[in-house]
Amino acid sequence: MASATTREWVHRAWKNGLAVPAFNIPYLPMMEPVVRALADTRTAGLIMVARLEWIKFAAGSIEAVRDEYARVGDRRVTRLHLDHVPVIDEDNLRVDYAADIGRAIRAGYESVMVDGSRLSLEENIACTRRVSEMARAAGIPVEAELGAVMGHEAGPLPPYEELFRSRRGFTDPDEAERFVRESGADWLSIAVGSIHGAISDSARARKKIEARLDIGHLDNINRRCGVPLVLHGGTGIARECIRDAVRHGIAKINVATAIRQPYERHAPESPARARDAVYAETVRIVREELAIEGSAEQINNGGNRP
Ligand code: 13P
Repeated sequence: MASATTREWVHRAWKNGLAVPAFNIPYLPMMEPVVRALADTRTAGLIMVARLEWIKFAAGSIEAVRDEYARVGDRRVTRLHLDHVPVIDEDNLRVDYAADIGRAIRAGYESVMVDGSRLSLEENIACTRRVSEMARAAGIPVEAELGAVMGHEAGPLPPYEELFRSRRGFTDPDEAERFVRESGADWLSIAVGSIHGAISDSARARKKIEARLDIGHLDNINRRCGVPLVLHGGTGIARECIRDAVRHGIAKINVATAIRQPYERHAPESPARARDAVYAETVRIVREELAIEGSAEQINNGGNRP
């Protein structure tokens, strides 16, 4: 039961109308309560760190997260994933993405993401293909991104309703089909209405607006791509939209803000209360938002939903 790979997990979720939640760890003490919540609810989930979390938060480094994972991870319910390593970051700076991803692969991460979404289509394909080759040599899957899931950049977002109505930044289905074919990406993060929680010092405590998802647009991408799709910006999306999205190709859902904000609120006064808040919120997401409690057995063993 404990030996299924991350590739199998996400593929089984995709085929069975389930989703694998993926939780960001911007502070190392958040990891243990997330793992415990997944174990207590028997739910399969990924533990992950993004580059901005070891640069702008307190995750430390790729290796520090791996070491904490070695201490508290639980193979029945968790796998270790490298989230966003951008080619051009949220401050518009060029990143040595291949170096970071190479380090994570050597450190034992079981899947990796390269984010070339700020590049042209051709450049994004080229960078993703480079990472796909690195990952293939290590036998692990690669997630890539096409389209603009905004929110990590400093400065105000355009009004959400305008963004949604105009479909600005949404992943183009024709491009997505070509991207998957030519880049070798195993999973594709797409933009269909979600946004990332803000991370600038002045905005990171702010409540996220409730986003919606364009399910018709998602369905169109899903039919053309033939790979599991990933939803970023998983905090604060209308519950029905999330569940509908899982029925239309979303197999992995990234969650950061929902567990980071309660941690940051309590940590200065009581680290124990901060960890409890992370535990409670992870359980709530699994049970109430995603309704996937108990997914681990099915995801580890394959087979259809009982
Ligand atoms: P939220 O902060 O909206 O949960 O988004 C997380 C995410 O997509 C990380 O990659």
